[in-house]
Amino acid sequence: MIRNDLPYQKMVLVCTHEREPHKRVCCRRNGGDALREKLKSMVKARGLKPCIRVSASGCLDKCEEGPNLLILPDNIWCSHVEEEDLEAILTALEADINTGNDETGRAV
Ligand code: FES
Repeated sequence: MIRNDLPYQKMVLVCTHEREPHKRVCCRRNGGDALREKLKSMVKARGLKPCIRVSASGCLDKCEEGPNLLILPDNIWCSHVEEEDLEAILTALEADINTGNDETGRAV
């Protein structure tokens, strides 16, 4: 194993876990996948892809509070996220990153 630092300044893990309708609620049914897609497109539109990685995650076991997302390395947990929240989330992330980066997005 090779242990490394995060390769991005920020990672946003958006739960997109899906369950069958008769089972426990899931983030996908509550819009998690659409949130991930929207946030990814917003990051791309702002040219932040080298700095901010948006990825799908499996169940984070807070299903009833979903859709949920986790921001690393800050350990910020957001629940009941709606599309209208993404602008504020991304603006806060953008304010907290160093855009004077090398080509990998790492702060220089
Ligand atoms: S399905 Fe998203 S936290 Fe469980």
